[in-house]
Amino acid sequence: MAFSFFLTFCYLWLSSASQTSTAATVVSDTLRPNQVLKDGQTLVSSGQRFELGFFSPGSSSSSNRYLGILYKNIPLTVVWIANRNNSIRGLSGSLLLDNGNLVFREENSGDSEGYIWQSFDYITDTLLPDMKLGWNLKNGLHMYMRSWSSANDPSVGEFSFSLDPPETPQLVLRKGTQKRNRWGPWDGVRFSGSAALRSNPVFIPMFNSSIEEVYYTFKIVDQSLLSRFVVTQDGLIQYLQWSKNSNEWAIMVTLQRDSCDSYMVCGPYGNCYDGPKCECLNGFRPKSPVDWARVDWSGGCVRKWELDCGNGDGFVKYGGMKLPDNSHLAASRNLSLEECKSVCLGNCSCMAFTMIDIHGNGGDCVLWFDDLLDMRDFSGGGDDLYIRMAKEELGK
Ligand SMILES: *[C@@H]1O[C@H](CO)[C@@H](O)[C@H](O)[C@H]1NC(C)=O
Ligand SMILES: *[C@@H]1O[C@H](CO)[C@@H](O)[C@H](O)[C@H]1NC(C)=O
Ligand SMILES: *[C@@H]1O[C@H](CO)[C@@H](O)[C@H](O)[C@H]1NC(C)=O
Ligand SMILES: *[C@@H]1O[C@H](CO)[C@@H](O)[C@H](O)[C@H]1NC(C)=O
Repeated sequence: MAFSFFLTFCYLWLSSASQTSTAATVVSDTLRPNQVLKDGQTLVSSGQRFELGFFSPGSSSSSNRYLGILYKNIPLTVVWIANRNNSIRGLSGSLLLDNGNLVFREENSGDSEGYIWQSFDYITDTLLPDMKLGWNLKNGLHMYMRSWSSANDPSVGEFSFSLDPPETPQLVLRKGTQKRNRWGPWDGVRFSGSAALRSNPVFIPMFNSSIEEVYYTFKIVDQSLLSRFVVTQDGLIQYLQWSKNSNEWAIMVTLQRDSCDSYMVCGPYGNCYDGPKCECLNGFRPKSPVDWARVDWSGGCVRKWELDCGNGDGFVKYGGMKLPDNSHLAASRNLSLEECKSVCLGNCSCMAFTMIDIHGNGGDCVLWFDDLLDMRDFSGGGDDLYIRMAKEELGK
């Protein structure tokens, strides 16, 4: 198929550039004004790790061609696609960096850091080392991963994996708009309830929060290894590493480890234990004992003693927890644990609080309103959670 990709925008952006070229074969990492990248030609990154070119996905011998960034020298593995829903977007002058980033720069601007557009801001299903999953708070860009529809169809599929919200960041896998898995919020060391994203001999997970951006990323320990983080078309979140020996991608880590990772498996105030098995938190009982006995835990638990806001409610500390969903940062920052407690106590719909160091300031007061959802027992590295209880439960 003689499909050519003409860089019209490049011409617009860089029409005053002095250097023009009519080269027919592209061998460098830079495409200059008036150059055309034709199907069959590729643009190769300076370190020979990635290439930009046209491909047909999966085993399809179809005439569907996509423009994407692929690993060079291994069987077709796509890390980014320009036109995943069949529409070629306007691209302009280009440079393919060796970390797999496609960057458009103005020529002769003398600014080697600045760019007009970069593919790293528009993630498809793959996060590469140095790519950021999260938020650019300056321009409002939300960078998140979306699965392919199927192995042969890179169009936007059902699953998305994102870091949200920026105030109390969690990792969330959704199928459509429904949450399937959730880990968080970030507690200064890990995403609450996840042991999978720890430093290991191959990659180092990193979380970074500043006034300008909040993101998750990872670094590769050995730069010669190929590693990528993907959301599969079946909704699994996996780290893959290229194995030279077996000539295939090997799964290193799958974030979903057991059924306690399924969203809200134990219902409100239920606590999930490996097994899996749901138990009500101390001071709570099954909402429907009949369902609970039938191992249908979704109805969750209710209080043994009803709250009476303003009449002796207090807090009980639960240790070793995966923190619940729907957390909020207290309006005033820099509170002590005691101050955080009194903020929560002063609002009758505040059901729990804790102090964790989300943003690297030393500690953030985090509050939960209404029912507490999606907790699990996490004895080896969980967080403390202070839950509002009736006076009858205090001091037990
Ligand atoms: C992309 O294609 C998928 C599947 O065909 C569709 O569900 C989705 O709405 C499309 N997205 C856009 C932005 O067109
Ligand atoms: C976060 O990013 C900023 C700016 O890029 C950098 O200076 C800082 O060292 C990073 N912090 C961490 C913990 O990586
Ligand atoms: C936070 O608290 C510390 C210690 O109490 C204090 O030194 C610091 O100035 C406070 N920061 C802000 C922004 O209030
Ligand atoms: C309690 O907090 C919630 C959530 O911030 C807020 O909507 C509500 O107005 C507060 N109630 C009171 C009485 O302050």
